[in-house]
This record gives sequence, structure tokens and C-alpha cells, in this order.
Amino acid sequence: MIKRITVPDIVKMKGITPVSVVTAYDFTQARIADECGIDIILVGDSLGMVFQGNPDTLSVNMVQMIYHTSIVSKAAQKALIVSDIPFSSSKVSKEKICENAVALMEQGKCAAVKIEGAGGIVTEAISQLTSLGIPVMGHVGLTPQSFHAFGGFRKQGTTAQTADLIVSQARELERAGVFSIVIESVPDDLGDRITKSVAVPTIGIGAGPRCDGQVLVINDLLGMDERFTPSFVRKYADLSSVIRKALTDYNSDVKNHQFP
Ligand code: KIV
Repeated sequence: MIKRITVPDIVKMKGITPVSVVTAYDFTQARIADECGIDIILVGDSLGMVFQGNPDTLSVNMVQMIYHTSIVSKAAQKALIVSDIPFSSSKVSKEKICENAVALMEQGKCAAVKIEGAGGIVTEAISQLTSLGIPVMGHVGLTPQSFHAFGGFRKQGTTAQTADLIVSQARELERAGVFSIVIESVPDDLGDRITKSVAVPTIGIGAGPRCDGQVLVINDLLGMDERFTPSFVRKYADLSSVIRKALTDYNSDVKNHQFP
């Protein structure tokens, strides 16, 4: 019997073992990530960009999140499954955030939810959820659901004032009970400072090597899209070329009566 990684297991990893996190949106990706020993599979609302081909994550809705989360949860036997609360659910009211967190866990079968940002209804919702036993992963720095307010997908915390604000947000999320915090696209030193300021594991994406763990979008890591790669991504494969060659060869074989 395979033992599933739990939220307390992840919390205990801080300062001991780096936490590996990758996104996944379908059965095959999730099954392979799980079999490769990834600790957390995140059903990120990045699916709006890399799966649906949209320019941002704002149009992802709860029906889609539940659909993808239920497929990923079915595929993974060991990894902890975390699912994103999408834009349309997380910016309206504390009640809506809580209702949708429950729906993601009930119908998507994930073990935890991730919520972007801090302050106001976000922190209130996180406090309520965690006090009810629903594990929440926080997300600070470049929170893509707020990209319009940031003026684009820009590195955050580059001034002393904004760096202090992000550290205080991370501390606020910790007080609200999150079990870990994603830190996205901030200077390496700020990633380090936040990691030292909170007792829960930090998971960096473009936040330097001193976070407690790292997360990458699976399509970026596998080199699925040759058109754009964020600067902080390491491509572990060039699947775009592999797939192109296979499909070109297949096409040519069919046209030339070489297959079957
Ligand atoms: O939506 C997502 O995939 C994310 C990760 C990039 C952290 O939030």
C-alpha cells in the first residue's frame, strides 16, 4: 500500500528536505509526476494559459478547476494534491472563497487549496478555512491573478518598501494558518528573507535557491512550448521538438504509404 504524503509531512520538511512541486492538469502528467516521486502536484490555474491557450489565468472557472483536479487526484497515489482557487471565486467574498474551497475538496478530491494574495477577505477566508481543518497554501510576490494591478507579469518586491510588504503578507498568511507559501518572481534575497521569516515551508518559483522547495509549471519544465520560456525556468526536456519530429514522421509515413 502506497503511503500518501500529507500536509503535516510537508510542514516537517522545512529546513530538512527540499519540497518538489510541479503542476499537472491531466491524468498522464499526474500519474508520471507521482511515479517520479514529486511531493506535491499543483492543479494550478496556470492551466488557463498552458492548457487552454489564454493570455492569462483570469477566465479559469470553478467547473474547469474541479474537472482537472478530479482527474489529477484520480491519477496520483502518493503526492499531495493542491488545487487553485480561481480568480472569479477568490475576489468576491470570504463566503465565496470558502464555498469554493469546500467544493474543490469535495468534488475534486484534492487535499488542500491554494489562494493567491493576502489581506482583507483573503486572509479572513484563510483563517476560517484553516480553523475548520481545510489546509491552505498561500501565494505571495507575483500573484498572476493581480497582473493588471502590477502592470504585467513583473518581478515583485524590488524596492525596500514592496519587499517589506511581501514579508509582512507572508507573516500574515502564516498567522492565518497556511501550511506553506508559494513565493513567485521576487529577488533571490527576498525569497531567502521570507523563508527565514516564517516557520512554514516556502515554495519558490523565480524566487531563488534558498526557498524550502521549488515549483515549476510542467509545460515549461518539459519544454512543451518553444515560443516563450520564463527566465527562471530550467528546461529538463525539449518535448516540443520530440513531438514535432514524431508527428512530422507520422504524417510523412501516412502520405507515403509507409504506415501501416
Ligand atoms: O497556477 C499555477 O500554476 C501556479 C504556480 C505557478 C505556482 O500558481
